[in-house]
Amino acid sequence: MKTKVKVGVAGCGDVSRNTYLPNLARLHQQGRLDLAAVADIVAGRAATLAQQYRIPTAFTEFEQLLEADVDLVVNLTPMQVHADVTLAAIKAGKHVYTEKPIATDLDKAGEIIANAREAGITVAAAPALLTHPDIQQVIRWIQGDLIGKVCFARARASNPGPDRITDFKTDPTRYHQQGGGPLFDLGIYPVHVLTAALGPVQRVTAFSGIALPHRVVRAGEARGKEIHTDVDDNVHMVLDFGNAIFATIDATYCVLSSKGPRMEFYGETGVINLASTVEEPPLEVFRVDYEHELRGWVTPEKVYRGRVNPPRPQNQPHPYTLVDGVEHMIDVLEGKCCLLLTAEHARHVLEVLLAVQESASTGRAVTVQSEFSIPAL
Ligand SMILES: NC(=O)c1ccc[n+]([C@@H]2O[C@H](COP(=O)([O-])OP(=O)(O)OC[C@H]3O[C@@H](n4cnc5c(N)ncnc54)[C@H](O)[C@@H]3O)[C@@H](O)[C@H]2O)c1
Repeated sequence: MKTKVKVGVAGCGDVSRNTYLPNLARLHQQGRLDLAAVADIVAGRAATLAQQYRIPTAFTEFEQLLEADVDLVVNLTPMQVHADVTLAAIKAGKHVYTEKPIATDLDKAGEIIANAREAGITVAAAPALLTHPDIQQVIRWIQGDLIGKVCFARARASNPGPDRITDFKTDPTRYHQQGGGPLFDLGIYPVHVLTAALGPVQRVTAFSGIALPHRVVRAGEARGKEIHTDVDDNVHMVLDFGNAIFATIDATYCVLSSKGPRMEFYGETGVINLASTVEEPPLEVFRVDYEHELRGWVTPEKVYRGRVNPPRPQNQPHPYTLVDGVEHMIDVLEGKCCLLLTAEHARHVLEVLLAVQESASTGRAVTVQSEFSIPAL
């Protein structure tokens, strides 16, 4: 594509307002893309953001966005709606960057992949973590055998729930309904990273339940609203990658705060730790060299200095945001790189999440069938 990619955003809710539109507007100002239109089915939502960010067109019907002159639809609708919005956009000849999950059932995910392929459309699916330099570094280390055979990994994907997040702007009820919940909302992040690092999951076992069924929204437009949860808010899973390689993940709306690492990989000759908070060094490695009697944690200086010591200089690139996935998609559409956030990988991750649900409800281990190629970093 020679001209700037014209971007249309579907959904002007919490993540649009807090993260996507400020950063898409920044990329527009930097000349990286043309932020052409926004749409939301709730009257006034798109118009307010269009005015705030000087976006030329605002629609109250998604179909109007499909008829507009945009190349790429950024799908920021609720999780339950993603697949239908993506399928309609493909049918209208638009490329799609969709927030996670790609769909909530495997048939729709398969339909997206088949229709996009037939139409020559590119579909990319969040999470965008594989575009993050720290995550890429970890995957390269693991693939390059830095810590030997990885025996297991542990990852944390919990938060308090959108009802208790203090800057959450809209009514979070849908996050507590079927098709939502912490498994699809949060568990998807480590499953995406772990499968990129360790390959496809072969089997899953899980426990899950509703730990906190009655919730009160603490902030935003719906403050004070009572929510009765009808999706499991407390999910714990074990993933089997074969060859006695396992991972354990918590994906809950039950954790107010934690000092535990975001993710750790335990290898035969070392450990990789991803920080819990931005105040810590983002990556650390424990190395053992028996021959030279060296044991200890190593903080990669390049990354460490970039984050905390000395403070990041003003002219450094902006820190990672969710919108890095859209920026990656622009690079792909401009032919500058290959797609890392593939729909095939997203479908495998979805199959793992559905296997978690099945295992938790049946009490049995569930086999995962699909495979995908690990993207070359
Ligand atoms: N909120 C976050 O912090 C966050 C972070 C990462 C990812 N996400 C993902 O982003 C997506 C949106 O989350 P959110 O928190 O902003 O939800 P939200 O409910 O606040 O916003 C969704 C918006 O989409 C609109 N919408 C629904 N159907 C539509 C359609 N057909 N066309 C156009 N607009 C439509 C709704 O009116 C609403 O304004 C979800 O998939 C979520 O998983 C959210």
